[in-house]
Amino acid sequence: MSTPRPQEPHPIAPRRVAFDWRETPLHWIPGEPTATHVINVLHLLLPAGERWFVKVFKEALPLVRDDQLLKDVKGFMGQEATHSVQHAYVLDHLAHQGLDTAPYTRHVDFLFEYLLGGKPPFGLPVPAPEWLRFRLSLIAAIEQFTAVLGNWVLAADGLDRADPDPVMLDLLRWHGAEEVEHRSVAFDMYQHTGGEDPARYARRVLGMAVTAPVLLYLWAWGAAYLLRHDPQLADRSRYSLREHQRAVRKGLLPTWRELGAAIPRYLRRSYHPSQEGSLRAALGYLASSPAARAAAGAVGRAALS
Ligand SMILES: [Fe+2]
Ligand SMILES: [Fe+2]
Repeated sequence: MSTPRPQEPHPIAPRRVAFDWRETPLHWIPGEPTATHVINVLHLLLPAGERWFVKVFKEALPLVRDDQLLKDVKGFMGQEATHSVQHAYVLDHLAHQGLDTAPYTRHVDFLFEYLLGGKPPFGLPVPAPEWLRFRLSLIAAIEQFTAVLGNWVLAADGLDRADPDPVMLDLLRWHGAEEVEHRSVAFDMYQHTGGEDPARYARRVLGMAVTAPVLLYLWAWGAAYLLRHDPQLADRSRYSLREHQRAVRKGLLPTWRELGAAIPRYLRRSYHPSQEGSLRAALGYLASSPAARAAAGAVGRAALS
């Protein structure tokens, strides 16, 4: 079952970061509530979503017959678990500022814990191995977008120009850099455990066909929820595509083309995510990230003591 893949002799391991949210304003991109909340949707989806990645991968671990992949997968699980926890802290911070996200995240929990849980929902007669492969195909497709978004946020000069809260920018870039760093792992895991071609390819297409519209829907719903419930927007503002486009033009959000082009790329039979983004840029950021540096310093001190 060994799957040949481009070698990236790069060990993947979690960085035990911490962020201090006390000084972070609700509109962490000053004067840009739409861009702020469109990006904030990440905090709504990722705590439950990345926890779910780890659960599904734990189920699939016994299928891995490749030592290097096993190491990568364990590193991936450690990174995603850390991301999940750190984004959950942001939700606490939003709640402290009067923006309660629980009515929205309840639906996200239902999606990941019930609809995509350990057993098919509604007693659907899907065999267990097929149900696992389907969920692995979803994770591989989601990771295509996290790699694209990670690459985008690392290079998003527009965000730098907008004078954002430095702690939030560091969280996004630390996470984005680790997404680029581990961009191939979910795909390799899917390919390795995905059964025989052509079913493996067909399932990959299905994974993306489900993931792209559901993500778009959850994102639009989440941004609308945050704007409507933002206590600092007196008129209970609505999400507007025009405002979104204005933010895109300022470089505060990725373009639709950047996001959309990720789909046909992923559907190429010869595709491998090692071509997404720049590992060098990701590692360059992690070497300068205040949170990642503090985590590395803590590890170094612990090793010396
Ligand atoms: Fe992540
Ligand atoms: Fe990831």
